Amino acid sequence: MKSFQVNGLQGLSSIHVGESLSNIGAYLPAGVTPIIITDETIKTLYGKNFPDGPVLTIGTGEKIKTLATVETLLRELIRLSCDRTSFILGIGGGIVSDITGFVASVFLRGVDFGFVSTSLLSQVDASVGGKNGVNLDSFKNMVGVFNQPKFVICDIDLLQTLPKTEISNGLAEIVKHGLICDADMLSFLENNRQKALDLDPDIIFRLVADSVAIKSRVVGEDEKEAGKRRILNFGHTIGHAVETLNQTKQTQEKMGLAGHGRAISLGMVAAAMFSQRKKLISPDEVDRITSLLRGLNLPVDLDYRADQIIAAASRDKKKQGSSLHYVFLEAIGTARVEKIPYDEMNDFIRSVFTGS
Ligand SMILES: NC(=O)c1ccc[n+]([C@@H]2O[C@H](COP(=O)([O-])OP(=O)(O)OC[C@H]3O[C@@H](n4cnc5c(N)ncnc54)[C@H](O)[C@@H]3O)[C@@H](O)[C@H]2O)c1
Ligand SMILES: [Zn+2]
Repeated sequence: MKSFQVNGLQGLSSIHVGESLSNIGAYLPAGVTPIIITDETIKTLYGKNFPDGPVLTIGTGEKIKTLATVETLLRELIRLSCDRTSFILGIGGGIVSDITGFVASVFLRGVDFGFVSTSLLSQVDASVGGKNGVNLDSFKNMVGVFNQPKFVICDIDLLQTLPKTEISNGLAEIVKHGLICDADMLSFLENNRQKALDLDPDIIFRLVADSVAIKSRVVGEDEKEAGKRRILNFGHTIGHAVETLNQTKQTQEKMGLAGHGRAISLGMVAAAMFSQRKKLISPDEVDRITSLLRGLNLPVDLDYRADQIIAAASRDKKKQGSSLHYVFLEAIGTARVEKIPYDEMNDFIRSVFTGS
């Protein structure tokens, strides 16, 4: 097991990679029965291993990450007579942790919470860093709070039941961490691509631990994303636009094309090409990134309509004015954030997105 800490403004958060759900008792506050929030899939697979406590179960999929779900859960907490001493434990992937953290942060102005993270994507990214929240209409993560969980347990064994597409989704965020901060980890992933896809325990342990090390370090330096933390958004400006478009395309969801990591894969291909356009990285480096993503069964073809990507990517224009912070690669393993006009990004999108 490896442990990491995030020293948040509202307290310390510890992340334990390689710890087991069965040891959860060691992390829960003494004498308090936790209220558990999970999703249907995790309850079916692992409900028998949960600690004692009432279980509130939500559905699955991005469409349930709403204020309506939050409201339902808050009513349940009232029904259970929860108070400020209650402890809320989210057991699940990124959707469960984003919702649990938000519910716990607003119930009675905040009760303590922790996570058992069950998907690869949430172990390497979503459960770490204290961003919690939900979507509003088609605006992703539009309503939320910064608040650190008391602990995060990343139980590697739970990943064995993940569908293959979800393994690839998680690997996309690991690629992101390598690209922005850790060239060695990226090479390690390239050299162990198939073992990572097969969830070889030693390989996955290193990849999760290295990712958590990167994320907790960056978040520790800039919890509220006023500067350095922005590098974690590498691939996410255009990636979120792709994700929004995917959600409106029912057929694509049915074909298994939806998923945060898959969208971010396309966002990273675009961001790498944009970095090359600005002469920061070479065409060979773009090829290297694209072939790694392809080898991890992630999409790399930018066959979406440029006008639709631009419309979806410009949604938060009102917040940022006519320019935005865009994350570029300076090299494999180093990122930098630049404020650029929307027009510059839009011109780039028109030149590389080929869909009709
Ligand atoms: N807060 C953050 O900093 C942050 C960062 C990245 C992503 N996110 C958010 O996280 C969400 C994506 O996270 P995710 O990919 O974990 O999504 P998810 O929670 O929807 O999990 C994906 C699917 O895998 C299933 N699953 C989870 N663990 C499993 C297991 N061990 N065995 C079998 N099935 C399992 C889930 O039931 C779900 O159907 C998005 O909403 C994204 O916006 C948040
Ligand atoms: Zn992400």
